[in-house]
Amino acid sequence: MTKKAEISAKPKRNIFLHARPRTVPAAALRFRLTWGLGGAAALMVIVQLVTGILLNFSYEPTPLAAYGSVQHIHFDILFGRLFRNLHHWTGHALIVIVSLHMLRVFFSSAFRGTRYLNWIIGLGLLSLILLANFSGYLLPWDQRAYWAVTIATSILEYLPGIGPALLMVVRGGSDIGPVTLHIFHTLHTGLMPLLLLLLMLWHFWKIRRAGGLFLGECGDDGHESAATELTRLPARPHLFVREKAAAAVVLAALLYAAIFFNAPLGMLANPGLTPKTVKAPWYFIGLQELLIHVNPVVVVLVLPLLTISFLLFFPMVKADNVKGTKLVRLLFIGLGLTLTLLTIVGLVFRGPGMEWIF
Ligand code: HEM
Ligand code: HEM
Repeated sequence: MTKKAEISAKPKRNIFLHARPRTVPAAALRFRLTWGLGGAAALMVIVQLVTGILLNFSYEPTPLAAYGSVQHIHFDILFGRLFRNLHHWTGHALIVIVSLHMLRVFFSSAFRGTRYLNWIIGLGLLSLILLANFSGYLLPWDQRAYWAVTIATSILEYLPGIGPALLMVVRGGSDIGPVTLHIFHTLHTGLMPLLLLLLMLWHFWKIRRAGGLFLGECGDDGHESAATELTRLPARPHLFVREKAAAAVVLAALLYAAIFFNAPLGMLANPGLTPKTVKAPWYFIGLQELLIHVNPVVVVLVLPLLTISFLLFFPMVKADNVKGTKLVRLLFIGLGLTLTLLTIVGLVFRGPGMEWIF
């Protein structure tokens, strides 16, 4: 055996390779199968963990010091502004990317059989991303953060029975104050990243257990017999080169946003001075908008329960149930469009006091 052949025959000593498949079906390499969205989301979560840990070295979670510490990060610390901007834009972009990933999974019907549990884990991941963004929103402790969190948490009060008590628990008192900041910071930098990491690992493991991505032509048991007979290619280089290219594009886009657009930082939070416009964070503004039109109990209890039940149980509709499948698609599209419309109306067409502006 020549020296070159000997070297290439050696087992690869790279721990990351153990987490990846050795070979992949050629059909799974098509960009338009996934649009790279799941991988982009995973990379962005890692960016959040790394930048978050760095920010936490200088951030001080008390009302007296929080705002100043964010100013210090932004204006004084070397690369502080870059990391803060990166953390801000990546957090918000994650909501969009994860929602698009969910849409692609839905439209490729990759949620039945062995993939059902992964759909549920995905719903858990989506909730965590929303909560991580929401808990992070308060941390800069400026007027925007203080009042947006005040408005968004006050929606809980409409929950019949437990509403007021739940609001007290979330805020750690009747108003947003030092205890709220402590609770939000602890959740944001402790429990949430931990759960996010664990769920992500479980999510990836379930994909491996399901035999890789869903390539169509599968029965309700979720095993696509045809896929195993497809041509398989070594993951290295075919899959990895694509993943590296996609990661480079995602990182370049995030860096571009972080270099050219600053994360907002308003005036120091002032509980005694309500700003002219108080809006919930954009991902909850659809709920705020809906509250203007519909009975609050319907908005905070009936509709969320119906939506969650729908998302949890629609994968039970069998693929050969044509009418059921059509109805599920209609409801899913209707839900997505309504939420998008309400968000746009709340963001763009509502001025101070939430009255119409044209
Ligand atoms: C932090 C959030 C998430 C991350 C990092 C993530 C990551 C991934 C990755 C890397 C894949 C494989 C490649 C791809 O499909 O693009 C995948 C597949 C999958 N994801 Fe996610 N995902 C997340 C959220 C979600 C959500 C919100 C759902 C749905 C509610 C979901 C459901 C699924 C399912 C069912 C699959 C398997 C698809 C198949 O077999 O073809 N994921 N995810
Ligand atoms: C997916 C996970 C995460 C998301 C979506 C997220 C999101 C956010 C958001 C939207 C903000 C507000 C930024 C701003 O407008 O200024 C924020 C702030 C912050 N986050 Fe995170 N974060 C995540 C993980 C983490 C982790 C793991 C840590 C630390 C261990 C962390 C530490 C911080 C700190 C210290 C701040 C305050 C600094 C600032 O506002 O610039 N984050 N986060």
